[in-house]
Amino acid sequence: MGILDLSGAIKSENVTKPKNVTKPETMTKTCDAYNPKSETDPMTQTHPMIGRNLRIDSDRLWQSLMDMAKIGPGVAGGNNRQALTDDDSTARHLFQSWCAAEGLSLHTDKMGNMFARREGSDASLPPVMVGSHLDTQPTGGKYDGPLGVLAALEIIRSLNEAGLATRHPIEIVNWTNEEGCRFAPPMMASGVFAGVHDLDWAYDRTDAAGARFGDELERIGWVGDAAVGGRPVAAFFELHIEQGPILEDSKTDIGVVTHGQGLNWIRVTLTGKEAHTGSTPMPSRVNAGLGMAQITVLAHQIALAHAPYAVGAVGHCEIFPNSTNIIPGKAIFTIDFRSPDPAVIAAMHDELRTGASAIAKTLGLGIDFELAGAFDPVAFDPACIDRVRAAADRLGYSHMDLVSGAGHDAFWMSRVAPTAMIMCPCVDGLSHNEAEEISQDWAAASANVLFHAVVETAGLVSDD
Ligand code: GLV
Ligand code: MN
Ligand code: MN
Repeated sequence: MGILDLSGAIKSENVTKPKNVTKPETMTKTCDAYNPKSETDPMTQTHPMIGRNLRIDSDRLWQSLMDMAKIGPGVAGGNNRQALTDDDSTARHLFQSWCAAEGLSLHTDKMGNMFARREGSDASLPPVMVGSHLDTQPTGGKYDGPLGVLAALEIIRSLNEAGLATRHPIEIVNWTNEEGCRFAPPMMASGVFAGVHDLDWAYDRTDAAGARFGDELERIGWVGDAAVGGRPVAAFFELHIEQGPILEDSKTDIGVVTHGQGLNWIRVTLTGKEAHTGSTPMPSRVNAGLGMAQITVLAHQIALAHAPYAVGAVGHCEIFPNSTNIIPGKAIFTIDFRSPDPAVIAAMHDELRTGASAIAKTLGLGIDFELAGAFDPVAFDPACIDRVRAAADRLGYSHMDLVSGAGHDAFWMSRVAPTAMIMCPCVDGLSHNEAEEISQDWAAASANVLFHAVVETAGLVSDD
């Protein structure tokens, strides 16, 4: 199967496997169906104002990124603003105040997703949604997430400044808990919005300390009144840093994301026997830490065997009781396998289970598997993709098609609305690292492409 043949399904029994979602009739139209390029209706053609001169304010966008990054600083110049922490709440308040200053109405849903709305000229039309997330990894950068939210805000600021109206409303969205580092799985709240996860199931997810997602959302004061999802969205656009090296290496301004790879997060629990590290004879040890080490190597080998279109690593691990002179009695760790091909993900998953079970048997360990996160590879909407490409061409930026290696809220949104993503380069392809960096010019170029794609989809209202 070619890497972009996205037919088929991930094979796994699990708690987080996405439900099959039938797109409501109102959500099945393509980007073009909402804004057809009709010869007879000038309102739906590319508006003359949507020309090269329509640009966001690069300095203002950059300043907002820097101001947001002051909240939840990390220890090395990046951010630690994990979902549903006090810092997450502070970031939301700052975003709320910026939206209020632009005259947007804000509503928050029961998952804490924030929607800041600028009305369109036609109240019967569904919104064009644009955004990303403000939560970060524990050692996250300043741009993974915030660039997409604050570029959306910059679009609104630019429209307001220019006095331009659109036919569709535009809604900026800040999705709750995209990262999934504190509460797995990632893209949790957009998943509820798109109908792939149940609200109560999401509320019951817990962090490493046992805190419930629902309780923490309430504690930070961001449980909204609005129902989660179930409403028409004309289109969804997300701008994100690439988080890989392809754009920078090829000196390309813009990534036009056509597909995204899928993943399985497989959480393994090994059970051994705690005993003294000094006095227990080697042959009598039942060492859960040793099992974890061997399965970590196995996961690496499995991904390598499926290279280049597959990746895998153990990124989360805990051993208990984690004392230097106790042989670990328990290990809990999570393997992250990804590929654009669902059959490869399923194969890696099967190989991991078989190999890990054999390792556990040899070491005398108990073993238990849980699917802690899963999503299928996605293909974005061809008309929305074309709109991104056309915007990059119009603005004179070089561009190339990309498959997203990381997961994004746009993946779930593509199930319920025509969706596309735009990417900008990041230095050395580095992300999920406090040293993550982009240039102001890269941010501005990609925000301009977002601006044009969104405004063209929302339909600029003519003065004449
Ligand atoms: C989300 O950040 C992911 O892990 O891809
Ligand atoms: Mn992100
Ligand atoms: Mn991320």
